[in-house]
Amino acid sequence: MTRPFLKWAGGKAKLAPRILEGAPPGFARYVEPFAGAAAVFFALEPRPREAVLNDANPDLIETFTAVRDNLDAVTASLRELAEAYLGESPEGRASLFYRVRASAPRSMHERAARFVFLNRTCYNGLFRVNARGGFNVPHGRYKKPRILDEELLSECSTALQTTELRSEDFERVCAEARPGDFVYLDPPYHPLSATANFTGYTRADFGREDQVRLRDAFEDLTRRGVAAVLSNSDHEFTRQLYGGLGYGLAVVAMSRAINSRPSARAPVAELLIDNYDRIGLAPAERPAT
Ligand SMILES: C[S@@+](CC[C@H](N)C(=O)[O-])C[C@H]1O[C@@H](n2cnc3c(N)ncnc32)[C@H](O)[C@@H]1O
Repeated sequence: MTRPFLKWAGGKAKLAPRILEGAPPGFARYVEPFAGAAAVFFALEPRPREAVLNDANPDLIETFTAVRDNLDAVTASLRELAEAYLGESPEGRASLFYRVRASAPRSMHERAARFVFLNRTCYNGLFRVNARGGFNVPHGRYKKPRILDEELLSECSTALQTTELRSEDFERVCAEARPGDFVYLDPPYHPLSATANFTGYTRADFGREDQVRLRDAFEDLTRRGVAAVLSNSDHEFTRQLYGGLGYGLAVVAMSRAINSRPSARAPVAELLIDNYDRIGLAPAERPAT
């Protein structure tokens, strides 16, 4: 069991054990259509023989690919960046951050090192891009950011060896999941309020139509007998989408690690929705809710 090497809004490191309690034993493949930093994947114990990690963010998936296939080169590039940054004054750090942010390295391992560096040194570890796809989160002010954690990166690289990495819309990945797989879906959440709508991980926002498309994909998985669990905000709209269909609905408290206002980091209610009853997974194999 390990943890993600990236910070990610909505990261599920804390909730992972609760999500995995319900996983069917001995599943063939683990499938995450909205991987983000893939906290649940990294928490899997024992390691799955095969996994599919997908995310619509191509830079994120490229970073995973480089860490899987070219760990030494990523580590060396990241070490250079970390040493340069940590040796600077506060002003020097900011100027280095903006230089790296404006850069467009040619090689994949350097792009991956840039991605991890920006993730570790930007404001709150957020990922946001402008209309042209350029990363535009400002510099954060951490005293001692952990830019390179070699042991963690190496553990993650080992875990990634058996993964297929993809960057597509979730629908296609769901359509290819098969009975015997275990699918965990962690989409951008339906916002709890108009001001709390952080859904901008990619250029395209994840709107109401996407939430409906996702519910339809969840129904399709269920009809085909694929075990799946999905998290989303505990909102009337989410309850309308998934209520009355025979799904298991559990409310869990989740703290928001990424938020600038401490008050907004207070635990919020989230829904965990599973299709175990509908696909006839034996009760003994299910979590106590
Ligand atoms: C809540 S985050 C996942 C967090 C993740 N479980 C973790 O532990 O870090 C949602 C992810 O969905 C991705 N995403 C947004 N729209 C998507 C789409 N249409 N298809 C696939 N992934 C999408 C975003 O890039 C983002 O990384």
